[in-house]
Amino acid sequence: MLRGVTAIRYVTPLREGGSLPGLMEADDLGTYVVKFHGAGQGRKVLVAEIVAGELARGLGLAVPELVTVDVDPRLGLAEPDQEVQELLRNSPGRNLGVDFLPGALDLDPLAFDPGPEFAGRVLWFDALVGNVDRSWRNANLLLWHRRPYLIDHGATLTFHHGWSGPPTAEALAQRAARPYDAGDHVLLGCAPDVDAADAELAPRVTPALLAAATAAVPDAWLDGEPGFDEPDDVRAAYVAALTARLDARAAWLPPLREAAAAGAERRTRPAKHPSWLAEWRAAR
Ligand SMILES: Nc1ncnc2c1ncn2[C@@H]1O[C@H](COP(=O)(O)OP(=O)(O)O)[C@@H](O)[C@H]1O
Ligand SMILES: [Mg+2]
Repeated sequence: MLRGVTAIRYVTPLREGGSLPGLMEADDLGTYVVKFHGAGQGRKVLVAEIVAGELARGLGLAVPELVTVDVDPRLGLAEPDQEVQELLRNSPGRNLGVDFLPGALDLDPLAFDPGPEFAGRVLWFDALVGNVDRSWRNANLLLWHRRPYLIDHGATLTFHHGWSGPPTAEALAQRAARPYDAGDHVLLGCAPDVDAADAELAPRVTPALLAAATAAVPDAWLDGEPGFDEPDDVRAAYVAALTARLDARAAWLPPLREAAAAGAERRTRPAKHPSWLAEWRAAR
């Protein structure tokens, strides 16, 4: 189970991302980036945040602490922004909190190269959970006290948006074999060592780790899932999907390796300056 805190103050909205998370202070004197169950994408993105986030943590990747945050919508009454008021009104009770890392910078791999080992682990993990949100446009990696942290796992495990009950073995196997689209991945230029990551991380994705990551999701966010009887049945479906994905590495590792090799060749970011400038400089 995640630790639970109670919000005491809404500080400010965070507008960098799309989901309008809010910075809130809580009764444990902590400050949290709160993701609201009443936001447009609903509670499934919170489930993905927890399952993928705790999985990453279990694999030794740094993720800020995740907590549940009890929110009284009245905390939003003084907010001048209608959108924020509405979000809080739609999100009474338990929401997801991410420990706020004050002063953290968005990680730019050209300014801070995290190295092939770390790049490989993150790429491998993102391929496992199908993360579509770690591009050079939106890295969702923070640099804090010189250490890279992984955030924002709401756009992982996206298969859960389409399921209507426990998936069949055929559906699981078919989905699990799909290659990961790594073309835009922010760490592709860091020569990710996919094979080292696979050797190190695959044995660590154990049934116990998957059980712990899914057990961390509050029942209330799994209850009443169409096609499923009990919250534990939904948890079992996540475990089955991730286990199938792990077992299907023979299908998705080779293309991931190729993407990593191709990425290493174009180590630069899309040109900052127009091409005519380089030509003009060269001509002088
Ligand atoms: N734990 C954190 N500590 C510091 N800043 C954070 C934290 N979590 C998110 N942020 C900042 O807020 C932005 C939006 O949060 P994110 O989790 O990416 O939500 P979204 O789903 O809206 O993209 C991030 O890009 C980052 O700049
Ligand atoms: Mg984001």
